[in-house]
Amino acid sequence: MSDDIRFFQLNTGAKMPSVGLGTWQSDPGLVGQAVAIAIKVGYRHIDCAQVYGNEEEIGIVLKKLFDDGVVKREDLWITSKLWCTDHAPEDVPEALNRTLKDLQLDYVDLYLIHWPMSMKKGSVGFKPENLAQPDIPSTWRAMEALYDSGKARAIGVSNFSTKKLGDLLEVARVPPAVIQVECHPSWQQSKLHAFCKSKGVHLTGFSPLGSPGTTWFKGDILKHPVLTMAAEKLGKSPAQVALRWGLQMGHSVLPKSTSESRIKENFDVFGWSTPEDLFAKFSEIEQANL
Ligand code: A2P
Repeated sequence: MSDDIRFFQLNTGAKMPSVGLGTWQSDPGLVGQAVAIAIKVGYRHIDCAQVYGNEEEIGIVLKKLFDDGVVKREDLWITSKLWCTDHAPEDVPEALNRTLKDLQLDYVDLYLIHWPMSMKKGSVGFKPENLAQPDIPSTWRAMEALYDSGKARAIGVSNFSTKKLGDLLEVARVPPAVIQVECHPSWQQSKLHAFCKSKGVHLTGFSPLGSPGTTWFKGDILKHPVLTMAAEKLGKSPAQVALRWGLQMGHSVLPKSTSESRIKENFDVFGWSTPEDLFAKFSEIEQANL
């Protein structure tokens, strides 16, 4: 296995670039610059969401990159996500229109239901008083209409459990192409991984570095002995080894960074691989107990 995991083919037939830049928690003011650096380094996949509050800034940068001939729209993969306050079927196309306006695009390559829980229209924050009764089948029918219209070239979900994904597959006319969940060596999502494989749904891992810095429930995986040992043997960084683990599992990965050197480091995961004996050690890593 060498330079072989640049894309994953989805159940729509589309080829999604396997490494995308995460933009969650990338502060406005920094995110635009990070997107420009990433695209110049070779990233062709940017993971966005309306709720991140930075799509407008990303849109300005994308327009400039297109105008300057740095990249063509058709060579980029842009994902965005429907926020929980917009689950009512009539609000779904409006939400995508807002995202498209902010990103200055005619279509997204992938549009995801961000969370399986719904919140009252116009409410702000994950507070119990904001929760509303979800009706995912109705929301999904509105997502399917966006797929039919071509404004979302693929549709999927995020933060769904295996059970919730299974329930959706039962009622979907257009099956979800992707499920995006937190996934890294300390949270390998084995059950969901197996289910997705059996159903032809592609799994994308966000926080593929285990969000170093937010170590409150799982410690810093980049310091885990399996990762540091593999990194040393391969002459790579623990972050690169964590990303390569995701790719070799068959997951696309969305490392977030606003630092130029780390954006570059996180894309230097092709043309080498973690050999089987080292890769097998990752299955021994104790899993987050959530
Ligand atoms: P920064 O933006 O300063 O680079 P995740 O994608 O797992 O949620 O992790 C994101 C966090 O990891 C951010 O705090 C980011 O900080 C940091 N990070 C990104 N790339 C690397 C790397 N190669 N090595 C160490 N930390 C990284």
